[in-house]
Formats: sequence, structure tokens, C-alpha cells
Amino acid sequence: MIKEFLFEDRNALFSTLATDCRKHLNNAISDYGSTSFLVSGGSTPAPLYEALSQSDLDWFKVHVALVDERWVDFNHEASNEALIYRTLLINKARHATFTSMKTGAVTSALGCPQVEGWYQQLPKPFAVSILGMGGDGHTASLFPHAEGLNEALNENNPLLTAAIMANQSEITGTNVERITLSLTGLLNSQRLIILLTGEEKLAVFRNALADLSDEAVKDMPVRAILRQDIVPVELYWAP
Ligand code: 6PG
Repeated sequence: MIKEFLFEDRNALFSTLATDCRKHLNNAISDYGSTSFLVSGGSTPAPLYEALSQSDLDWFKVHVALVDERWVDFNHEASNEALIYRTLLINKARHATFTSMKTGAVTSALGCPQVEGWYQQLPKPFAVSILGMGGDGHTASLFPHAEGLNEALNENNPLLTAAIMANQSEITGTNVERITLSLTGLLNSQRLIILLTGEEKLAVFRNALADLSDEAVKDMPVRAILRQDIVPVELYWAP
């Protein structure tokens, strides 16, 4: 069952989502002593991160980590890590601990074992994982029919992270080499929040929901999140 929070405008969306994330992080800190906040890149979530960065939270007890990363260096315009340093790890949130998803390895496949070791150290469960979705129905870097997708979606795969080589599209651009949380990694969250804006993405989301069969998951990998009943999924959307 997916809880939907649909807003009239983006100000209301980001203000409410920031409040809800603060609550989830505070509760997890109270329950576990520390927690992890898993964040996506892309163009949508920056207002959420900027709002959260001003929050009076015990950020010393929050471990921020990426849901996925393009295999580019920090100074590359496509770096999700750089985005998080620009929009979240500022103001009061600068005291959070950040775990990178990028190593100096030449390929994401070669870098993945080291990233896996870092992610195994993250406090679990993750209080919140913020997910986006592309118009192709990808989430994180779980792209349709990507190299590495089957392993990343395999429920028997114990690894939290996976290397992905996506099929180039207008959505991936040239950033086809990725590291991502696997389905196993994502299901270490107490809740999965899908953050979308615009009518087009809502239509894609509804299309994804319309067919949650095994065969349909590889066409729109966000379906792997929508069809599972282990971790609550919440949609936050505004036009
Ligand atoms: C990435 C993101 C990715 C993103 C979606 C939506 O590395 O690109 O983590 O999964 O959430 O592609 O991106 P937009 O918010 O830009 O539409």
C-alpha cells in the first residue's frame, strides 16, 4: 500500500516533506542513537535539502549517504556528491557525516567492493531514503534493462550496493556508468519516499503502478519498490 501526499504547489510539498523528514530523523536518533539519511541526486530534491540544512537536528548523529552516484569525480558537473555538499551539508547540517559512493577506481564495477564496505558501516535501518524517478521509470540508478540490473534487483543478493551500466538515453545523457543502492540496500530503509514533481512524472508513476508483474519490472525498475510490502513507500508530489 502506497501512501500518497499530493500538494497544490511545490512550496507546500517541500515544506511538509522537510518537516516529515525532520520527524523521521529525530525519531530514529531517539530509537537508535544515530541514523542514516539516504539521498538521491537529480534536479528535483535540492529545495528539500536546503530546507533541511537549516533544521535544528542533532546532525552529529546523522550519516548522510547517496542512493546512487554517477561514476564521475567530485568536480564534475554531474556529481551527486557535489550536489549534496552544495545543498544539504551546509548550515546546521554541515555537522552530519557523509559517506561517499565514489572511489578512485577506474570503473564503478572495480570501485563497488570498497563502496560496499563503507555502506555496510552505515547505521541501520536508514531512517529515510529519498528516491526520485525518471520518465523511463528508473529510480536510484536502477535503469531499464541496464547491465547489472538483474543482480541489483535480486532479492537474494546480500549486497547493499551494485555497479550499473545503463543504456544511454536522453534521460541518462552520457552518465551511464553508475553505482546504486540495490533493492536489498533500499529495503534497509524504515521508509522509502518517492519525491516527484510535474504532471508527466505523475502519469509515469501511475503507469508503473498499473503493472507490477515480474516481467514488467525490468521495463520500469521503480516497480520493484512499488510492488514490495516490506518497507512502507510514500509518494510526495506537486504539479
Ligand atoms: C540520479 C538520481 C536519479 C534521479 C532521477 C530523477 O543520479 O540521477 O539519483 O535517480 O532521482 O533521475 O531525476 P530528476 O529529479 O532530475 O528528475
